[in-house]
Amino acid sequence: MSKILITRRTFQEAEDKLLQAGSEVVIWGEPDSPGYEELLKEVRDIDGLYAHITNQVDGAVMDAAPNLKVITEFGVGYDNIDVDAANKRGIAVCNTPGILSESTADEAFALLMAMGRRTHDLPQLVKRGEWGDFDPLAYLASDIHHKTLGIVGMGRIGGEVAKRAAGFNMKVLYYNRNKRDEEFGATYVSSLDELLQRSDYVSLHNPLTPETTGLMGSEQFKLMKKSAMLINTTRGPVVDQEALYDALTAGEIAGAALDVTVPEPIPADHPLLTLDNCLIMPHVASATDDTRLKMAMMCVDNVLAGLAGDWPPYCVNRDQISDNARIKQ
Ligand code: DGY
Repeated sequence: MSKILITRRTFQEAEDKLLQAGSEVVIWGEPDSPGYEELLKEVRDIDGLYAHITNQVDGAVMDAAPNLKVITEFGVGYDNIDVDAANKRGIAVCNTPGILSESTADEAFALLMAMGRRTHDLPQLVKRGEWGDFDPLAYLASDIHHKTLGIVGMGRIGGEVAKRAAGFNMKVLYYNRNKRDEEFGATYVSSLDELLQRSDYVSLHNPLTPETTGLMGSEQFKLMKKSAMLINTTRGPVVDQEALYDALTAGEIAGAALDVTVPEPIPADHPLLTLDNCLIMPHVASATDDTRLKMAMMCVDNVLAGLAGDWPPYCVNRDQISDNARIKQ
């Protein structure tokens, strides 16, 4: 019988499907994710690992699990998994692409709208009883329509954001490793600097890699318009948070909305939380009931396929392990 470890609680449908397939399922039941040492112990005799963003799955974890054949990440980003280490060991690594693109784009756009039209801060003022007499010069926000949105990383999620922006009559620029088809009227710019200089809103959708760590730092904030706003729904380390704090307090940019931070959760006394022009969400871009259930079922499909000796439907390293894949042994 194959043994599968799920490192956080999950949907009943997902657990049921694994059990119906005859697997032994171990679900980490503690309120917080297993720490690294706990993970090393828990993986000892597993065949499949259903992991989450909070698990660091490196070569040592893989070595602690000699039977491990397949790892699935609950999410599209799998920067917490050492794929090179998995390649060396013939372990299939999978994720949940596509299914969360629209929910993530919805959230990015909601953050853009909240910052632009100040739905993040003005309701607080009303609650405090500070809504003053009508004043043509008070509570001014920024338009969304006819403003320029700069999308960094034009993959599936970036494309969905561009589609939403088109519906709001925005002009859309994008910067990407490769020029893509100019869908939804988005215009390619060949440098990040140009995108930053021209955009009223900048939304980050690139994966976290060594090259994109600290992509947005003090030099980049200085290039942005003073009226511009940054939206980050990708990964916290893409933004240098100290530089962001300095840029927000110095008025180099007008605002920022972050779904992701370093660390996560961000401590309640973090300086960014003292700023009215910074909105922080608890890493929830894919967190809708429908999308999270579909992600869980994709993880189940990945694990079950792998453990049955088939290629998982969403395997990211098939080309790298085709000769030594443990799922085929
Ligand atoms: C993703 O899918 O990458 C989400 O951020 C959850 O980790």
